[in-house]
Amino acid sequence: MKSKILKILKKKNKSPLVCLTAYSKNISKILDKYCDIVLVGDSLGNVLYGMKNTHNVTVDMMIKHASSVMLGIKKSLCVVDMPKNSYRNLHEAKKNAKKIIKITKCDAVKIENNKKNYSLIKNLVKSNIQVMGHIGYTPQYKKKFKVEGKTKKEEIKLIKEAKKIQDAGAFSIVLECISSKTSTKITKELKIPTIGIGSSKNCDGQILVTDDILGLSGFYPKFVKKYIKLDKIIEKKVQKYKKEVINKLFPKSINSY
Ligand code: KIV
Repeated sequence: MKSKILKILKKKNKSPLVCLTAYSKNISKILDKYCDIVLVGDSLGNVLYGMKNTHNVTVDMMIKHASSVMLGIKKSLCVVDMPKNSYRNLHEAKKNAKKIIKITKCDAVKIENNKKNYSLIKNLVKSNIQVMGHIGYTPQYKKKFKVEGKTKKEEIKLIKEAKKIQDAGAFSIVLECISSKTSTKITKELKIPTIGIGSSKNCDGQILVTDDILGLSGFYPKFVKKYIKLDKIIEKKVQKYKKEVINKLFPKSINSY
């Protein structure tokens, strides 16, 4: 197993894993200094391309963005989302995962759970492809947002799913919008690290969409903490630039040849 993956596994029960998304080099080179995992999420469909969901994100879009992200990565583990319809059977999954890893040189792929892909994950891992699982609110398969794991029945179902993904050989698992109680139980029962998004501080790590925490995406559900209103700061600087251009204050002689 690759050393970067082993480093992630060793952090379970020791130090929380710091994870964020990136879609380009300018962001990934900053995240790389502070994050254990940088995820090229298919959330780029909503965040960058204005799509209403992630369903039409393609493998080629993921490869383009992941290639840019990898230019900024030196030490963190880079995981790339397999978009919907890129792993409908083992042949398709292998072909696309291999293509993503070969072209981008990323370390692993993430696959949302559709309750049919446990043996698919097992086969990918057998072929030396590192896989991160994803359960709870999985936007590729769920139409409506809902917090999961609030009832006993849901709790049992989610623990079962998480264990099956672990048994299939995934090295970690994203728990998206799973109740605190259930995400805590899953984290305790699994040997692999759980990465929470909207799923309590008891997960082994946390992930958020970087554009959300910077205040750039316009998407701020309860589980997102907006650390800065970067949209407002950028707007102010663009206004200043406009004023200077109109008033011929820019460029000055030091900006000219
Ligand atoms: O697509 C994405 O960015 C994700 C994270 C929110 C976990 O899957």
